[in-house]
Amino acid sequence: MLRPLDRRQLIARLALVGLGGTGLGALTACQARHTHPQNARPTSHAMRYRNGAVAADHPLASEVGVDVLRAGGNAIDAAIAVNATLGVVRPYSCGLGGGGFLVAHDEKTGRSWAMNARETAPRGVWESYFTDLRSSGGPDGASRYGGHAVAVPGTPDGLFLAHRAHGTMPMSRLLAPAAELARHGFEADASHVGAVESLAGVRRRLPWTKTISQWTWRQWCHEGTVTVGSKLSNEALAETLETLGRKGIEAWRTGPIPEGLSRIARASGGKLNVDSIAEYRADEIEPLTLKNRFFGDTIITMPPPSSGGIAIAQILATYERLLKAAGNPPLESTQGRHLLIEAMKPAFALRARYLADPAFAPVPIDRLLDEALVESMTAKIDPNRARTAEEIGEGLQLPDDEGTSHLCVIDGQRRAVAWTSTINGTFGSLVGDPESGVLLNNEMDDFTTIQGEANLYGLRQSDWNLPVPGKRPLSSMSPTILLNDRGSIEAIAGASGGPRIISATLQVLLGMRYGDLDAASAIDRPRVHHQWLPDSIRYEDDEALEGPGWRAPLEAMGHTFDQAPRGVAVVQAIRVHSDGFDPASDPRKLGVAAGY
Ligand code: GLY
Repeated sequence: MLRPLDRRQLIARLALVGLGGTGLGALTACQARHTHPQNARPTSHAMRYRNGAVAADHPLASEVGVDVLRAGGNAIDAAIAVNATLGVVRPYSCGLGGGGFLVAHDEKTGRSWAMNARETAPRGVWESYFTDLRSSGGPDGASRYGGHAVAVPGTPDGLFLAHRAHGTMPMSRLLAPAAELARHGFEADASHVGAVESLAGVRRRLPWTKTISQWTWRQWCHEGTVTVGSKLSNEALAETLETLGRKGIEAWRTGPIPEGLSRIARASGGKLNVDSIAEYRADEIEPLTLKNRFFGDTIITMPPPSSGGIAIAQILATYERLLKAAGNPPLESTQGRHLLIEAMKPAFALRARYLADPAFAPVPIDRLLDEALVESMTAKIDPNRARTAEEIGEGLQLPDDEGTSHLCVIDGQRRAVAWTSTINGTFGSLVGDPESGVLLNNEMDDFTTIQGEANLYGLRQSDWNLPVPGKRPLSSMSPTILLNDRGSIEAIAGASGGPRIISATLQVLLGMRYGDLDAASAIDRPRVHHQWLPDSIRYEDDEALEGPGWRAPLEAMGHTFDQAPRGVAVVQAIRVHSDGFDPASDPRKLGVAAGY
Protein backbone atom coordinates (compact mmCIF):
# COMPACT_ATOMS: atom_id res chain seq x y z
CA MET A 1 0.00 0.00 0.00
CA LEU A 2 1.46 3.35 -1.01
CA ARG A 3 1.75 6.16 1.46
CA PRO A 4 -0.65 9.01 0.59
CA LEU A 5 2.06 11.36 -0.67
CA ASP A 6 3.55 8.68 -2.89
CA ARG A 7 0.15 7.96 -4.33
CA ARG A 8 -0.50 11.61 -5.22
CA GLN A 9 2.88 11.93 -6.91
CA LEU A 10 2.21 8.71 -8.78
CA ILE A 11 -1.18 9.93 -10.01
CA ALA A 12 0.45 13.04 -11.45
CA ARG A 13 3.27 10.98 -12.95
CA LEU A 14 0.93 8.42 -14.51
CA ALA A 15 -1.04 11.24 -16.04
CA LEU A 16 2.18 12.61 -17.52
CA VAL A 17 3.07 9.41 -19.30
CA GLY A 18 -0.43 8.87 -20.54
CA LEU A 19 -1.55 5.97 -18.35
CA GLY A 20 -4.18 8.26 -16.93
CA GLY A 21 -5.99 8.20 -20.25
CA THR A 22 -7.82 5.03 -19.38
CA GLY A 23 -7.97 5.01 -15.65
CA LEU A 24 -7.30 8.41 -14.26
CA GLY A 25 -8.67 10.82 -16.79
CA ALA A 26 -11.49 11.90 -14.58
CA LEU A 27 -12.88 14.86 -16.43
CA THR A 28 -12.00 13.64 -19.89
CA ALA A 29 -9.63 10.94 -20.88
CA CYS A 30 -7.62 13.27 -23.07
CA GLN A 31 -7.00 15.77 -20.28
CA ALA A 32 -4.93 13.27 -18.38
CA ARG A 33 -3.03 12.27 -21.49
CA HIS A 34 -1.84 15.81 -21.99
CA THR A 35 -0.76 16.62 -18.49
CA HIS A 36 2.75 18.09 -18.35
CA PRO A 37 5.18 18.29 -15.46
CA GLN A 38 5.00 22.04 -15.05
CA ASN A 39 1.26 21.76 -14.48
CA ALA A 40 1.36 18.90 -12.04
CA ARG A 41 1.49 20.87 -8.82
CA PRO A 42 0.22 18.53 -6.16
CA THR A 43 -1.43 20.04 -3.12
CA SER A 44 0.61 19.80 0.05
CA HIS A 45 -0.58 17.17 2.41
CA ALA A 46 -2.82 17.62 5.38
CA MET A 47 -2.34 21.37 5.57
CA ARG A 48 -3.77 22.95 8.66
CA TYR A 49 -4.77 26.50 7.78
CA ARG A 50 -6.23 28.31 10.76
CA ASN A 51 -7.93 31.28 9.14
CA GLY A 52 -9.56 30.04 6.00
CA ALA A 53 -9.23 27.63 3.09
CA VAL A 54 -10.41 27.25 -0.49
CA ALA A 55 -10.40 24.20 -2.74
CA ALA A 56 -11.19 24.96 -6.38
CA ASP A 57 -10.23 23.04 -9.49
CA HIS A 58 -7.85 25.76 -10.71
CA PRO A 59 -5.00 27.17 -8.60
CA LEU A 60 -5.75 30.78 -9.61
CA ALA A 61 -9.34 30.43 -8.41
CA SER A 62 -8.25 29.04 -5.02
CA GLU A 63 -5.85 31.97 -4.65
CA VAL A 64 -8.56 34.51 -5.51
CA GLY A 65 -10.75 33.04 -2.77
CA VAL A 66 -8.01 33.24 -0.17
CA ASP A 67 -7.33 36.88 -1.14
CA VAL A 68 -10.97 37.72 -0.45
CA LEU A 69 -10.84 35.97 2.93
CA ARG A 70 -7.61 37.77 3.84
CA ALA A 71 -9.25 41.07 2.89
CA GLY A 72 -12.02 40.43 5.44
CA GLY A 73 -14.63 38.77 3.25
CA ASN A 74 -16.64 35.84 4.56
CA ALA A 75 -16.96 32.39 2.97
CA ILE A 76 -19.84 33.49 0.71
CA ASP A 77 -17.86 36.51 -0.50
CA ALA A 78 -14.94 34.23 -1.29
CA ALA A 79 -17.17 31.65 -2.96
CA ILE A 80 -18.68 34.33 -5.23
CA ALA A 81 -15.23 35.51 -6.30
CA VAL A 82 -14.03 31.92 -6.83
CA ASN A 83 -17.13 30.99 -8.82
CA ALA A 84 -16.76 34.01 -11.11
CA THR A 85 -13.05 33.26 -11.56
CA LEU A 86 -13.68 29.62 -12.43
CA GLY A 87 -16.00 30.87 -15.16
CA VAL A 88 -12.95 32.54 -16.70
CA VAL A 89 -10.12 30.07 -16.06
CA ARG A 90 -12.24 26.92 -16.56
CA PRO A 91 -14.43 28.25 -19.38
CA TYR A 92 -15.26 24.73 -20.63
CA SER A 93 -16.65 23.77 -17.20
CA CYS A 94 -18.75 26.61 -15.87
CA GLY A 95 -19.45 30.33 -16.17
CA LEU A 96 -22.13 33.00 -16.48
CA GLY A 97 -23.83 30.94 -19.20
CA GLY A 98 -24.47 27.99 -16.84
CA GLY A 99 -26.09 27.16 -13.51
CA GLY A 100 -25.39 25.49 -10.19
CA PHE A 101 -26.23 24.59 -6.61
CA LEU A 102 -24.80 25.96 -3.39
CA VAL A 103 -25.00 24.57 0.15
CA ALA A 104 -23.72 26.57 3.13
CA HIS A 105 -23.53 26.13 6.88
CA ASP A 106 -22.61 28.48 9.70
CA GLU A 107 -21.22 26.50 12.61
CA LYS A 108 -21.70 29.31 15.14
CA THR A 109 -25.40 29.88 14.47
CA GLY A 110 -26.08 26.30 13.44
CA ARG A 111 -27.96 27.63 10.40
CA SER A 112 -27.78 26.10 6.93
CA TRP A 113 -28.71 27.57 3.59
CA ALA A 114 -29.01 26.34 0.01
CA MET A 115 -29.44 27.97 -3.34
CA ASN A 116 -30.93 26.51 -6.51
CA ALA A 117 -29.45 28.35 -9.48
CA ARG A 118 -30.07 25.50 -11.90
CA GLU A 119 -30.88 26.50 -15.48
CA THR A 120 -34.50 26.27 -16.67
CA ALA A 121 -36.05 25.28 -19.97
CA PRO A 122 -36.88 28.47 -21.89
CA ARG A 123 -40.33 29.58 -22.92
CA GLY A 124 -41.32 28.00 -26.20
CA VAL A 125 -40.17 24.40 -25.61
CA TRP A 126 -42.50 21.49 -24.90
CA GLU A 127 -42.22 17.88 -23.69
CA SER A 128 -41.69 16.32 -27.11
CA TYR A 129 -39.50 19.18 -28.33
CA PHE A 130 -36.50 17.04 -29.23
CA THR A 131 -38.62 14.21 -30.71
CA ASP A 132 -40.43 16.69 -32.91
CA LEU A 133 -37.17 18.34 -33.84
CA ARG A 134 -35.84 15.04 -35.04
CA SER A 135 -38.98 14.19 -37.04
CA SER A 136 -38.70 17.53 -38.75
CA GLY A 137 -35.09 16.86 -39.79
CA GLY A 138 -33.32 18.72 -36.95
CA PRO A 139 -29.56 18.29 -36.53
CA ASP A 140 -28.00 15.17 -35.04
CA GLY A 141 -27.16 15.90 -31.41
CA ALA A 142 -29.48 18.90 -31.11
CA SER A 143 -29.95 18.45 -27.35
CA ARG A 144 -26.22 18.68 -26.83
CA TYR A 145 -24.85 21.17 -29.32
CA GLY A 146 -26.13 24.45 -30.72
CA GLY A 147 -29.00 26.72 -29.77
CA HIS A 148 -31.57 23.98 -29.09
CA ALA A 149 -29.36 22.66 -26.27
CA VAL A 150 -29.32 25.98 -24.39
CA ALA A 151 -31.31 26.38 -21.18
CA VAL A 152 -31.82 29.72 -19.41
CA PRO A 153 -28.63 30.44 -17.43
CA GLY A 154 -28.89 30.55 -13.64
CA THR A 155 -25.38 31.43 -12.44
CA PRO A 156 -25.61 35.26 -12.73
CA ASP A 157 -28.78 35.42 -10.63
CA GLY A 158 -27.23 32.88 -8.25
CA LEU A 159 -24.14 35.05 -7.74
CA PHE A 160 -26.32 38.05 -6.89
CA LEU A 161 -28.73 36.07 -4.71
CA ALA A 162 -25.84 34.64 -2.68
CA HIS A 163 -24.48 38.15 -2.34
CA ARG A 164 -27.79 39.70 -1.21
CA ALA A 165 -28.34 36.91 1.28
CA HIS A 166 -24.90 36.64 2.88
CA GLY A 167 -22.29 38.77 1.11
CA THR A 168 -20.47 41.60 2.83
CA MET A 169 -18.04 43.02 0.26
CA PRO A 170 -19.13 45.04 -2.80
CA MET A 171 -20.02 42.90 -5.79
CA SER A 172 -17.69 44.97 -7.97
CA ARG A 173 -14.80 43.93 -5.69
CA LEU A 174 -15.79 40.26 -5.84
CA LEU A 175 -16.09 40.16 -9.63
CA ALA A 176 -12.92 42.21 -10.20
CA PRO A 177 -10.36 39.35 -10.03
CA ALA A 178 -12.32 37.35 -12.61
CA ALA A 179 -12.58 40.41 -14.87
CA GLU A 180 -8.88 41.07 -14.50
CA LEU A 181 -7.95 37.51 -15.47
CA ALA A 182 -10.33 37.67 -18.42
CA ARG A 183 -8.77 40.94 -19.59
CA HIS A 184 -5.08 40.34 -18.92
CA GLY A 185 -5.11 36.62 -19.52
CA PHE A 186 -3.87 33.43 -17.92
CA GLU A 187 -1.96 30.39 -19.13
CA ALA A 188 -3.67 27.31 -20.51
CA ASP A 189 -2.90 24.15 -18.55
CA ALA A 190 -3.13 20.53 -19.68
CA SER A 191 -6.74 20.33 -18.58
CA HIS A 192 -7.61 23.18 -20.93
CA VAL A 193 -5.66 21.54 -23.76
CA GLY A 194 -7.65 18.34 -23.14
CA ALA A 195 -10.91 20.27 -23.44
CA VAL A 196 -9.72 21.80 -26.74
CA GLU A 197 -8.99 18.30 -28.07
CA SER A 198 -12.40 17.16 -26.95
CA LEU A 199 -14.03 20.00 -28.92
CA ALA A 200 -11.84 19.20 -31.94
CA GLY A 201 -13.23 15.66 -31.77
CA VAL A 202 -16.83 16.89 -31.73
CA ARG A 203 -16.16 19.14 -34.73
CA ARG A 204 -14.68 16.17 -36.62
CA ARG A 205 -17.54 13.81 -35.73
CA LEU A 206 -20.34 16.30 -36.36
CA PRO A 207 -19.19 18.76 -39.04
CA TRP A 208 -22.34 20.89 -38.64
CA THR A 209 -21.04 21.97 -35.21
CA LYS A 210 -18.14 23.80 -36.89
CA THR A 211 -20.39 26.74 -37.66
CA ILE A 212 -22.05 27.01 -34.26
CA SER A 213 -18.79 26.58 -32.34
CA GLN A 214 -16.88 29.15 -34.40
CA TRP A 215 -16.56 31.75 -31.64
CA THR A 216 -15.64 29.19 -28.95
CA TRP A 217 -13.10 27.57 -31.28
CA ARG A 218 -11.42 30.89 -31.95
CA GLN A 219 -11.76 32.47 -28.50
CA TRP A 220 -10.90 29.60 -26.18
CA CYS A 221 -9.12 27.15 -28.51
CA HIS A 222 -7.13 29.46 -30.83
CA GLU A 223 -8.40 27.36 -33.73
CA GLY A 224 -6.98 24.21 -32.10
CA THR A 225 -3.46 25.58 -31.58
CA VAL A 226 -3.63 26.04 -27.79
CA THR A 227 -0.80 24.29 -25.97
CA VAL A 228 0.20 24.30 -22.31
CA GLY A 229 1.33 27.83 -21.52
CA SER A 230 -0.67 29.56 -24.31
CA LYS A 231 -2.08 32.88 -23.09
CA LEU A 232 -5.89 32.95 -22.99
CA SER A 233 -8.03 36.02 -22.46
CA ASN A 234 -11.55 37.27 -23.19
CA GLU A 235 -11.93 41.06 -23.28
CA ALA A 236 -15.70 40.93 -23.86
CA LEU A 237 -16.20 38.72 -20.81
CA ALA A 238 -14.09 41.12 -18.73
CA GLU A 239 -16.41 43.94 -19.72
CA THR A 240 -19.51 41.88 -18.94
CA LEU A 241 -18.18 41.06 -15.46
CA GLU A 242 -17.32 44.72 -14.85
CA THR A 243 -20.75 45.82 -16.06
CA LEU A 244 -22.41 43.37 -13.67
CA GLY A 245 -20.19 44.64 -10.85
CA ARG A 246 -21.15 48.23 -11.59
CA LYS A 247 -24.81 47.91 -12.55
CA GLY A 248 -25.93 44.74 -10.78
CA ILE A 249 -28.12 41.89 -12.00
CA GLU A 250 -30.43 44.21 -13.98
CA ALA A 251 -27.69 44.44 -16.61
CA TRP A 252 -28.08 40.69 -17.09
CA ARG A 253 -31.88 40.77 -17.17
CA THR A 254 -32.44 43.53 -19.72
CA GLY A 255 -30.44 45.30 -22.41
CA PRO A 256 -27.63 44.27 -24.71
CA ILE A 257 -26.42 41.23 -22.73
CA PRO A 258 -29.66 39.15 -22.86
CA GLU A 259 -30.39 40.45 -26.35
CA GLY A 260 -27.01 39.20 -27.59
CA LEU A 261 -27.33 35.82 -25.85
CA SER A 262 -30.81 35.24 -27.20
CA ARG A 263 -29.77 36.30 -30.69
CA ILE A 264 -26.78 33.96 -30.81
CA ALA A 265 -28.68 30.95 -29.41
CA ARG A 266 -31.59 31.48 -31.79
CA ALA A 267 -29.25 31.82 -34.76
CA SER A 268 -28.77 28.04 -34.54
CA GLY A 269 -32.43 27.38 -33.84
CA GLY A 270 -32.69 27.63 -30.05
CA LYS A 271 -35.55 29.03 -28.02
CA LEU A 272 -33.55 31.12 -25.55
CA ASN A 273 -35.43 34.44 -25.42
CA VAL A 274 -35.05 37.72 -23.58
CA ASP A 275 -38.24 37.17 -21.55
CA SER A 276 -36.99 33.86 -20.14
CA ILE A 277 -33.66 35.47 -19.21
CA ALA A 278 -35.43 38.45 -17.60
CA GLU A 279 -37.78 36.32 -15.51
CA TYR A 280 -35.21 33.76 -14.34
CA ARG A 281 -34.77 33.72 -10.56
CA ALA A 282 -32.46 31.56 -8.48
CA ASP A 283 -34.20 30.22 -5.37
CA GLU A 284 -33.15 30.23 -1.74
CA ILE A 285 -34.17 26.84 -0.42
CA GLU A 286 -33.79 24.62 2.62
CA PRO A 287 -30.95 22.19 2.12
CA LEU A 288 -31.61 18.52 2.62
CA THR A 289 -30.46 17.91 6.20
CA LEU A 290 -30.28 14.35 7.45
CA LYS A 291 -29.30 13.81 11.05
CA ASN A 292 -27.41 10.72 12.15
CA ARG A 293 -27.18 9.41 8.63
CA PHE A 294 -23.68 7.97 8.64
CA PHE A 295 -21.97 6.86 11.85
CA GLY A 296 -23.65 9.73 13.72
CA ASP A 297 -22.85 12.41 11.13
CA THR A 298 -25.39 14.91 9.86
CA ILE A 299 -25.41 15.36 6.07
CA ILE A 300 -26.30 18.80 4.68
CA THR A 301 -26.72 18.50 0.94
CA MET A 302 -28.76 19.41 -2.14
CA PRO A 303 -32.39 18.31 -2.54
CA PRO A 304 -34.03 17.81 -5.98
CA PRO A 305 -33.75 18.89 -8.73
CA SER A 306 -30.40 17.43 -7.79
CA SER A 307 -30.44 13.68 -7.42
CA GLY A 308 -27.10 13.85 -5.63
CA GLY A 309 -28.20 14.58 -2.08
CA ILE A 310 -30.80 11.83 -1.94
CA ALA A 311 -28.50 9.30 -3.58
CA ILE A 312 -25.59 10.10 -1.27
CA ALA A 313 -27.84 9.89 1.80
CA GLN A 314 -29.28 6.56 0.66
CA ILE A 315 -25.90 5.04 -0.16
CA LEU A 316 -24.23 6.21 3.06
CA ALA A 317 -27.12 4.97 5.23
CA THR A 318 -27.12 1.60 3.47
CA TYR A 319 -23.35 1.36 3.58
CA GLU A 320 -23.16 2.08 7.30
CA ARG A 321 -25.44 -0.86 8.00
CA LEU A 322 -23.50 -3.11 5.64
CA LEU A 323 -20.12 -2.11 7.08
CA LYS A 324 -21.28 -2.74 10.62
CA ALA A 325 -22.73 -6.13 9.70
CA ALA A 326 -19.45 -7.07 7.99
CA GLY A 327 -17.33 -6.04 11.00
CA ASN A 328 -16.19 -2.68 9.58
CA PRO A 329 -13.83 -3.84 6.80
CA PRO A 330 -11.42 -1.32 5.21
CA LEU A 331 -12.85 0.62 2.27
CA GLU A 332 -10.26 -0.77 -0.13
CA SER A 333 -10.81 -4.40 0.84
CA THR A 334 -12.76 -6.68 -1.50
CA GLN A 335 -15.64 -6.68 0.98
CA GLY A 336 -15.56 -2.89 1.40
CA ARG A 337 -15.68 -2.37 -2.36
CA HIS A 338 -18.32 -5.02 -3.00
CA LEU A 339 -20.69 -3.58 -0.40
CA LEU A 340 -20.20 -0.03 -1.65
CA ILE A 341 -20.96 -1.02 -5.24
CA GLU A 342 -24.03 -2.97 -4.19
CA ALA A 343 -25.22 0.05 -2.19
CA MET A 344 -24.81 2.30 -5.25
CA LYS A 345 -26.94 0.17 -7.58
CA PRO A 346 -30.41 0.61 -6.01
CA ALA A 347 -29.80 4.31 -5.30
CA PHE A 348 -29.08 4.93 -8.99
CA ALA A 349 -32.06 2.79 -10.00
CA LEU A 350 -34.33 4.94 -7.82
CA ARG A 351 -32.72 8.10 -9.22
CA ALA A 352 -33.57 7.10 -12.76
CA ARG A 353 -37.15 6.30 -11.94
CA TYR A 354 -38.32 8.93 -9.47
CA LEU A 355 -36.18 12.04 -9.58
CA ALA A 356 -36.90 15.26 -11.45
CA ASP A 357 -37.70 18.90 -10.65
CA PRO A 358 -40.14 18.76 -7.69
CA ALA A 359 -41.79 21.97 -8.90
CA PHE A 360 -43.07 19.98 -11.89
CA ALA A 361 -43.10 16.32 -10.81
CA PRO A 362 -44.33 14.43 -7.74
CA VAL A 363 -40.88 13.49 -6.37
CA PRO A 364 -41.46 11.26 -3.29
CA ILE A 365 -38.60 12.78 -1.27
CA ASP A 366 -39.76 11.52 2.15
CA ARG A 367 -40.31 8.01 0.88
CA LEU A 368 -36.94 7.96 -0.83
CA LEU A 369 -35.27 8.88 2.46
CA ASP A 370 -37.37 6.66 4.69
CA GLU A 371 -35.45 4.41 7.10
CA ALA A 372 -37.71 1.54 6.06
CA LEU A 373 -36.55 1.92 2.45
CA VAL A 374 -32.91 1.95 3.58
CA GLU A 375 -33.55 -1.20 5.63
CA SER A 376 -35.11 -2.97 2.68
CA MET A 377 -32.33 -1.83 0.32
CA THR A 378 -29.78 -3.15 2.83
CA ALA A 379 -31.57 -6.43 3.37
CA LYS A 380 -31.53 -7.25 -0.33
CA ILE A 381 -27.75 -6.89 -0.64
CA ASP A 382 -25.86 -10.17 -0.70
CA PRO A 383 -22.48 -9.84 1.06
CA ASN A 384 -20.98 -12.47 -1.24
CA ARG A 385 -22.51 -11.93 -4.65
CA ALA A 386 -23.03 -9.12 -7.16
CA ARG A 387 -26.66 -8.62 -8.13
CA THR A 388 -27.56 -7.98 -11.76
CA ALA A 389 -29.33 -4.84 -12.91
CA GLU A 390 -32.43 -6.95 -13.65
CA GLU A 391 -32.55 -8.18 -10.04
CA ILE A 392 -32.62 -4.61 -8.84
CA GLY A 393 -35.26 -3.47 -11.30
CA GLU A 394 -35.87 -2.20 -14.77
CA GLY A 395 -34.00 1.00 -15.31
CA LEU A 396 -32.44 3.70 -17.29
CA GLN A 397 -28.90 4.78 -17.94
CA LEU A 398 -27.45 8.02 -16.69
CA PRO A 399 -25.36 10.51 -18.58
CA ASP A 400 -21.66 11.20 -18.58
CA ASP A 401 -20.94 14.90 -18.67
CA GLU A 402 -17.89 16.97 -18.25
CA GLY A 403 -18.42 20.72 -18.07
CA THR A 404 -18.78 21.15 -14.33
CA SER A 405 -16.66 22.57 -11.51
CA HIS A 406 -16.93 22.30 -7.73
CA LEU A 407 -15.53 24.68 -5.09
CA CYS A 408 -15.32 24.53 -1.29
CA VAL A 409 -14.63 27.43 1.08
CA ILE A 410 -14.39 27.78 4.85
CA ASP A 411 -13.65 30.98 6.72
CA GLY A 412 -12.23 31.64 10.18
CA GLN A 413 -15.74 31.90 11.67
CA ARG A 414 -16.40 28.38 10.43
CA ARG A 415 -18.86 29.34 7.73
CA ALA A 416 -18.66 26.68 5.04
CA VAL A 417 -19.71 26.79 1.40
CA ALA A 418 -19.94 23.95 -1.14
CA TRP A 419 -20.87 25.20 -4.62
CA THR A 420 -21.05 23.16 -7.82
CA SER A 421 -21.47 25.00 -11.13
CA THR A 422 -21.94 23.66 -14.60
CA ILE A 423 -22.42 24.37 -18.27
CA ASN A 424 -23.01 20.58 -18.66
CA GLY A 425 -20.79 19.27 -21.48
CA THR A 426 -17.24 20.41 -22.25
CA PHE A 427 -17.70 23.96 -23.62
CA GLY A 428 -21.48 23.57 -23.05
CA SER A 429 -23.56 24.06 -26.19
CA LEU A 430 -20.39 25.33 -27.97
CA VAL A 431 -22.37 28.51 -28.68
CA GLY A 432 -20.76 31.68 -27.36
CA ASP A 433 -21.67 35.31 -27.75
CA PRO A 434 -18.87 37.51 -29.10
CA GLU A 435 -20.51 40.64 -27.66
CA SER A 436 -20.66 39.53 -24.02
CA GLY A 437 -17.95 36.85 -24.16
CA VAL A 438 -20.38 34.39 -22.51
CA LEU A 439 -20.39 30.71 -23.46
CA LEU A 440 -23.85 29.11 -23.22
CA ASN A 441 -24.68 25.82 -21.50
CA ASN A 442 -26.17 22.67 -23.05
CA GLU A 443 -28.21 21.82 -19.97
CA MET A 444 -31.27 20.86 -22.08
CA ASP A 445 -29.50 17.53 -22.52
CA ASP A 446 -29.96 16.83 -18.80
CA PHE A 447 -33.70 16.63 -19.50
CA THR A 448 -35.17 13.44 -20.92
CA THR A 449 -34.78 14.40 -24.55
CA ILE A 450 -36.44 11.63 -26.57
CA GLN A 451 -39.03 9.54 -24.71
CA GLY A 452 -38.32 5.84 -24.52
CA GLU A 453 -35.09 6.09 -26.45
CA ALA A 454 -31.46 6.47 -25.59
CA ASN A 455 -30.25 10.04 -26.07
CA LEU A 456 -26.96 11.20 -27.55
CA TYR A 457 -25.02 9.60 -24.68
CA GLY A 458 -26.82 6.27 -25.23
CA LEU A 459 -28.92 7.04 -22.16
CA ARG A 460 -32.53 7.19 -21.02
CA GLN A 461 -34.27 8.92 -18.12
CA SER A 462 -37.84 9.01 -16.85
CA ASP A 463 -40.71 10.99 -18.35
CA TRP A 464 -40.93 13.09 -15.18
CA ASN A 465 -37.82 14.77 -16.49
CA LEU A 466 -39.20 15.91 -19.87
CA PRO A 467 -38.61 19.59 -20.71
CA VAL A 468 -41.30 22.17 -19.85
CA PRO A 469 -40.76 25.95 -19.80
CA GLY A 470 -39.47 27.03 -16.39
CA LYS A 471 -38.60 23.46 -15.36
CA ARG A 472 -35.11 22.54 -14.18
CA PRO A 473 -33.45 19.41 -15.58
CA LEU A 474 -32.45 16.62 -13.21
CA SER A 475 -28.88 16.97 -11.95
CA SER A 476 -26.27 14.91 -10.16
CA MET A 477 -24.47 17.87 -8.59
CA SER A 478 -23.93 17.13 -4.91
CA PRO A 479 -22.48 19.99 -2.84
CA THR A 480 -22.31 18.47 0.64
CA ILE A 481 -21.28 19.41 4.19
CA LEU A 482 -20.90 16.90 7.03
CA LEU A 483 -21.35 17.76 10.71
CA ASN A 484 -20.40 15.51 13.59
CA ASP A 485 -22.74 14.65 16.45
CA ARG A 486 -21.67 17.83 18.31
CA GLY A 487 -22.70 19.98 15.34
CA SER A 488 -19.13 20.82 14.29
CA ILE A 489 -18.27 20.90 10.61
CA GLU A 490 -16.19 17.84 9.71
CA ALA A 491 -15.99 17.95 5.94
CA ILE A 492 -17.03 19.86 2.82
CA ALA A 493 -17.05 18.17 -0.59
CA GLY A 494 -18.47 18.02 -4.07
CA ALA A 495 -17.45 17.04 -7.58
CA SER A 496 -17.78 17.37 -11.33
CA GLY A 497 -18.35 14.42 -13.63
CA GLY A 498 -22.01 13.67 -14.34
CA PRO A 499 -23.48 10.74 -12.39
CA ARG A 500 -19.97 9.98 -11.13
CA ILE A 501 -20.29 13.16 -9.03
CA ILE A 502 -22.42 11.14 -6.63
CA SER A 503 -20.11 8.16 -6.24
CA ALA A 504 -16.96 10.26 -6.15
CA THR A 505 -18.24 12.72 -3.56
CA LEU A 506 -19.41 9.98 -1.26
CA GLN A 507 -16.15 8.01 -1.60
CA VAL A 508 -14.13 11.08 -0.63
CA LEU A 509 -16.44 11.70 2.34
CA LEU A 510 -16.02 8.05 3.30
CA GLY A 511 -12.25 8.30 3.00
CA MET A 512 -12.16 11.29 5.35
CA ARG A 513 -14.79 10.17 7.87
CA TYR A 514 -14.52 6.38 7.82
CA GLY A 515 -10.97 5.95 6.56
CA ASP A 516 -9.63 8.89 8.61
CA LEU A 517 -7.64 10.14 5.64
CA ASP A 518 -6.55 13.72 5.11
CA ALA A 519 -8.42 15.46 2.30
CA ALA A 520 -5.71 14.98 -0.35
CA SER A 521 -5.35 11.26 0.38
CA ALA A 522 -9.13 10.77 0.33
CA ILE A 523 -9.25 12.48 -3.08
CA ASP A 524 -6.27 10.57 -4.45
CA ARG A 525 -7.65 7.11 -3.66
CA PRO A 526 -8.74 5.30 -6.81
CA ARG A 527 -12.52 5.33 -7.10
CA VAL A 528 -15.18 2.98 -8.37
CA HIS A 529 -18.57 3.84 -9.83
CA HIS A 530 -21.69 1.81 -10.51
CA GLN A 531 -24.83 3.52 -11.76
CA TRP A 532 -27.03 0.42 -12.02
CA LEU A 533 -27.07 0.58 -15.84
CA PRO A 534 -24.80 -0.11 -17.59
CA ASP A 535 -24.39 -3.09 -15.26
CA SER A 536 -20.65 -2.84 -14.80
CA ILE A 537 -18.16 -1.14 -12.53
CA ARG A 538 -16.22 1.82 -13.80
CA TYR A 539 -12.91 1.89 -12.05
CA GLU A 540 -9.74 3.89 -11.91
CA ASP A 541 -6.54 2.11 -12.75
CA ASP A 542 -5.84 0.73 -9.33
CA GLU A 543 -3.59 -2.02 -10.62
CA ALA A 544 -1.02 0.48 -11.84
CA LEU A 545 -0.92 1.96 -8.36
CA GLU A 546 -1.31 -1.00 -6.06
CA GLY A 547 -0.37 -4.03 -8.08
CA PRO A 548 -2.59 -6.40 -10.06
CA GLY A 549 -5.28 -8.59 -8.71
CA TRP A 550 -7.77 -6.42 -6.84
CA ARG A 551 -10.52 -7.03 -9.38
CA ALA A 552 -10.27 -10.85 -9.39
CA PRO A 553 -12.08 -11.54 -6.08
CA LEU A 554 -14.82 -9.09 -7.07
CA GLU A 555 -15.20 -10.82 -10.45
CA ALA A 556 -15.54 -14.09 -8.56
CA MET A 557 -18.51 -12.56 -6.73
CA GLY A 558 -20.16 -11.75 -10.06
CA HIS A 559 -19.06 -8.15 -10.66
CA THR A 560 -18.11 -7.07 -14.14
CA PHE A 561 -15.74 -4.24 -14.99
CA ASP A 562 -15.86 -1.60 -17.66
CA GLN A 563 -13.01 -2.35 -20.06
CA ALA A 564 -12.60 1.30 -21.02
CA PRO A 565 -13.08 3.26 -17.82
CA ARG A 566 -12.99 7.05 -18.08
CA GLY A 567 -12.23 7.81 -14.47
CA VAL A 568 -14.54 8.74 -11.68
CA ALA A 569 -15.05 12.51 -11.48
CA VAL A 570 -13.06 15.43 -10.05
CA VAL A 571 -13.49 16.20 -6.36
CA GLN A 572 -12.66 19.22 -4.21
CA ALA A 573 -12.87 18.82 -0.42
CA ILE A 574 -11.92 20.41 2.88
CA ARG A 575 -11.48 18.34 6.01
CA VAL A 576 -12.09 20.40 9.13
CA HIS A 577 -10.24 19.80 12.38
CA SER A 578 -10.55 21.55 15.71
CA ASP A 579 -7.16 23.17 15.06
CA GLY A 580 -7.48 24.07 11.38
CA PHE A 581 -8.55 23.35 7.85
CA ASP A 582 -7.15 20.77 5.44
CA PRO A 583 -8.23 21.62 1.85
CA ALA A 584 -7.47 19.60 -1.27
CA SER A 585 -8.17 19.90 -4.96
CA ASP A 586 -8.20 16.98 -7.34
CA PRO A 587 -4.92 16.34 -9.20
CA ARG A 588 -7.02 14.72 -11.95
CA LYS A 589 -7.90 18.24 -13.15
CA LEU A 590 -4.69 19.83 -11.86
CA GLY A 591 -6.48 21.74 -9.13
CA VAL A 592 -4.51 23.21 -6.24
CA ALA A 593 -6.09 24.29 -2.97
CA ALA A 594 -5.05 27.27 -0.86
CA GLY A 595 -5.42 28.63 2.64
CA TYR A 596 -3.85 30.92 5.18
N1 GLY B 1 -24.79 18.85 -15.80
C1 GLY B 1 -24.36 18.02 -14.76
C2 GLY B 1 -25.37 17.75 -13.73
O1 GLY B 1 -26.11 18.66 -13.41
O2 GLY B 1 -25.49 16.67 -13.22
